[in-house]
Amino acid sequence: MAKQKLIELLNKGLQLEHQARAQYLSHATLLSGESADSIAARLKEIATDEQEHEEYFRQCLEILDAAPTITMHEGHEAKDNTSILKVNLKDEKDAVDFYREIWAELKATKDELPYEYEYIEHKLRHIIIDEEEHAMELKGLLGE
Ligand SMILES: [Fe+2]
Ligand SMILES: [Fe+2]
Repeated sequence: MAKQKLIELLNKGLQLEHQARAQYLSHATLLSGESADSIAARLKEIATDEQEHEEYFRQCLEILDAAPTITMHEGHEAKDNTSILKVNLKDEKDAVDFYREIWAELKATKDELPYEYEYIEHKLRHIIIDEEEHAMELKGLLGE
């Protein structure tokens, strides 16, 4: 039962990663001013991390014999440099909060996953640490 809930949450995580990667790559083309190129380079690097996270979620779903979603969470539009950084900073914080919910569900599922638990835990921990780093980086770019 808890395993089904965990699968649902992992797929929602995958939807968020699809969105995050697309959003960073699109926003990277909308930046303006002197710092546009350097910020764009950072957003593209973050997008590469999000692509890795997609793969991690797919691997977790595969080990649970569940099909990975091909759909994407709805994105958040932004037009100028500051709002682009702010929108993505909020999304990173929301991702950390949501992935902690997955973490809690994973713990509740531990007994059902005798040979999968640490594998999933390791991937999820890696993803959460990366999102925290992304949030810190965006805060830095915002001068906060
Ligand atoms: Fe991510
Ligand atoms: Fe991220």
